[in-house]
Amino acid sequence: MISDYLKGLIERAKKGYKTIVLPEGEDERILQAAHVIAEAKAARLIILGDEEEIKAYYAKNNWSLDGISIVKPENSPKLQEYANLLYDLRKAKGMTEEDAQKTALNYNYFGTLMVKAGDADGMLSGANHSTADTVRPALQIIKSTHKDRSVSTAVLLVKDGEAFVFSDCAVIIDPTEKELCDMALAAGETAIKFGIEPSVAMLSYSTRGSGKGEGVDKVRNAANMAKELLKTPEYAGKGIKIDGELQADAALDAVVAKKKAPDSDVAGHARVLIFPCLEASNIGYKLLQRICGCEAYGPLMQGLNAPVNDLSRGALVEDIIGMIALTAIQAEK
Ligand SMILES: CC(C)(COP(=O)(O)OP(=O)(O)OC[C@H]1O[C@@H](n2cnc3c(N)ncnc32)[C@H](O)[C@@H]1OP(=O)(O)O)[C@@H](O)C(=O)NCCC(=O)NCCS
Repeated sequence: MISDYLKGLIERAKKGYKTIVLPEGEDERILQAAHVIAEAKAARLIILGDEEEIKAYYAKNNWSLDGISIVKPENSPKLQEYANLLYDLRKAKGMTEEDAQKTALNYNYFGTLMVKAGDADGMLSGANHSTADTVRPALQIIKSTHKDRSVSTAVLLVKDGEAFVFSDCAVIIDPTEKELCDMALAAGETAIKFGIEPSVAMLSYSTRGSGKGEGVDKVRNAANMAKELLKTPEYAGKGIKIDGELQADAALDAVVAKKKAPDSDVAGHARVLIFPCLEASNIGYKLLQRICGCEAYGPLMQGLNAPVNDLSRGALVEDIIGMIALTAIQAEK
């Protein structure tokens, strides 16, 4: 079933009508999701895979291929151009021309190179690949928007139509202070992109020193570092607010916030939650999804020069539809 939130994402994606490459054309879920998105005219799609098989699947279902192109990397006239691009980008890291020829044939690399070359605005993969295999090409080729900042991910959690950003749910396993700081700033930007209030709480088991430990110090120092960066021209007028360390109840509940952090401009109404490690965030959002019935969209990469996103291998067709729409929205300038 397509939720109201997802319908809203599709409507928004229609306005930008971006081109998204889907490297996993062998997967029926991808073909079904691409059909829904193409029919809604929410994005143009490039599906990588076997042209005859994909055309036969669409014909069998009486679906139109309007708005969808199919590319088999092995036969693509652009293959050599992409291999050259990859070689240029990676030779300093020891990649040979021969390696580049072989690597460009990997569908996740080919799709990522299409984005880098400007032939697609974003890529979505991962229905049949690990997170590492999906995001590594993006980290190597698309790169972080700021050389000295790490890329992380966000999941949008939606309950009764209200959306929250959780970060980082997929990439950085045990973030340093600096990585937590980068994550908080990037998640604030993600919130803005999706029309969510950018009030960012950096979570811990402690609020304002109520608990002690290295982890508490790490989160507090990261929050202070991020607050300093918010004062720079890059963030002027964006309205991002960051505070930490805060417990989840202080971050979300106005009554608790009044008691535990009365001076905070975030506590009590945080909509962006930064978790101290991947275990906490990944377990946390999946519990909310399974026990509380929250919708979860993501993980979405944040802090990259162009959107490349990773699907869960258990993704349902609706999840993939949502992720294509989100990737297209991320591609809007
Ligand atoms: C994302 C991940 C795959 C990257 O690890 P890796 O492949 O070993 O990557 P490397 O350390 O070799 O780095 C590859 C490139 O990406 C860059 N990179 C890695 N992590 C990065 C980050 N968070 N931000 C920006 N760049 C990053 C490196 O600097 C390197 O760039 P370079 O080759 O141009 O110098 C790894 O962090 C990972 O496995 N994370 C956990 C994924 C997971 O299992 N998630 C749970 C499932 S939801």
